[in-house]
Amino acid sequence: MSKKYMLGCDVGTSGTKTVLFSVDGTPITSATVEYPLYQPQNGYAEQDPADWVNATMETIAAVIRQSGVAPADIVSVGLSGQMHGLVMLDEFNQVLRPSIIWCDQRTQAECDEMTRILGRDKLIAITANPAITGFTASKVLWVKNHEPEIYAKVKKIMLPKDYVRFALTGAFVSDYSDASGMQLLDVPNRVWSKEVCDALGIDMSWLCDLCESSDVSGRITPEAASRTGLLVGTPVAGSAGDQAASAVGSGIVRSGVLSATIGTSGVVFAHTDRPVIDPLGRVHTLCHALKDSWHIMGVTQGAGLSLKWFRDTFCKEEMAVADSLGVDPYVIMDKEAALSPIGADGLFFLPYFMGERTPHLDADCRGVFFGLTASHGKRDMLRSVMEGVGYSLTDCYAIIREMGFEGKEVRAAGGGGRSRLWRQMLCDMFDCPVTTTNSSEAGALGAALLGAVAAGIYPDVPTACDATIRTNPALSPDASTADYYKAAHPLYQHLYTSLKGDYKALAALRQQKGM
Ligand code: XUL
Repeated sequence: MSKKYMLGCDVGTSGTKTVLFSVDGTPITSATVEYPLYQPQNGYAEQDPADWVNATMETIAAVIRQSGVAPADIVSVGLSGQMHGLVMLDEFNQVLRPSIIWCDQRTQAECDEMTRILGRDKLIAITANPAITGFTASKVLWVKNHEPEIYAKVKKIMLPKDYVRFALTGAFVSDYSDASGMQLLDVPNRVWSKEVCDALGIDMSWLCDLCESSDVSGRITPEAASRTGLLVGTPVAGSAGDQAASAVGSGIVRSGVLSATIGTSGVVFAHTDRPVIDPLGRVHTLCHALKDSWHIMGVTQGAGLSLKWFRDTFCKEEMAVADSLGVDPYVIMDKEAALSPIGADGLFFLPYFMGERTPHLDADCRGVFFGLTASHGKRDMLRSVMEGVGYSLTDCYAIIREMGFEGKEVRAAGGGGRSRLWRQMLCDMFDCPVTTTNSSEAGALGAALLGAVAAGIYPDVPTACDATIRTNPALSPDASTADYYKAAHPLYQHLYTSLKGDYKALAALRQQKGM
């Protein structure tokens, strides 16, 4: 029998990466296509859904071409999608406006409206979360309030990867993990909530059908086959939101192991077999990509996003050197940051470029360098950006620990998880061992494994993970560094408290001056 392969497409914020794996989890080849993020106003973040579709089609075609694998040997496609983004279609299935994506912060008034209409307690009881600017429901209300002419034409609303699925299969389907980030799902019961939809005036016929992440959600159409090179009828799995997919790809499918993912956002993630909810709403509770499982996660809005901003704004030189050496610019930046002392010589960074979720749920806070002196250089600023993200993830982990989810180890994933320096910071700040797995592409692997289960290669998701995922030796905390971070963390936390009122004043000034 010929060897079989599975495809995982990670539809992210900076680009789409498709990886072809053999079904034992070995990566064969990958392709990435990047696309822009539009920020037409302060706090706004939009993308063009056509970019995600084109990037997915192109990267699938590229990996098939590069690998020389016969399309008949590709058993399935799985998708991992940036979560919460709003795609609206009209009666002809045409996109009505650019997608308002997960890190957009324009909807605080709509969140207040949701809380007023439904009540905070009911919203938490049904959707497992308080109203969150990043989630989809408030974005729907924003279009209703600000663009009624567009809203009048809406016939479908869906998430980014579900629009890509529609392009691949013609099916309007979502999976529970991603759907639970729309804030229209009854999360404990895994059904759309009529009560929430009715209260917000959202027509339930606009919503996708729901399935489990490892079910077949649709099959490749003739049109998608001609664009990608896949066979007509290749199954596409229900798939998952990027955090649940990445957790599957890191083997976070049972209690006791946690992951910390540094992608554009940063996430500390724990599996749970019952829907446990933080009454203060500081961490999210959502459905996991496995039957009868949920997860809690703390989210740093601007993790890799902060370092990418620093790279694009201040590291042209490093990018040129990296280009001439044929290495990733982040490798050079990492070396530079490692030359700055622990604590970046007293410099702190607050990673609030896109507001913050955990623990503040504040759409108005903004980034800060604190403690700058004339003796600080680029390397200190770089290190402080990485440490600021680390402190924020430590806040996420602290709440998850407080809720009773203590991990024996934390598995690092995402682009930032590839940096040994960043992993050691997490290890020292969390004061707990940090490992990596055999795959540096957890999102794509998780998506591909969901596809392999859908295609019947594995009986269930934990079996698929056990067969393919191995951990590498863990980093251990360094006592004196851990000690420093323990002493410095309260100051990092206090900076938000001190600035809270000033952030509101800045938001008011911007609004008043139309900035
Ligand atoms: C999770 C979240 C982000 C996005 C983009 O709640 O908003 O992780 O999915 O990665």
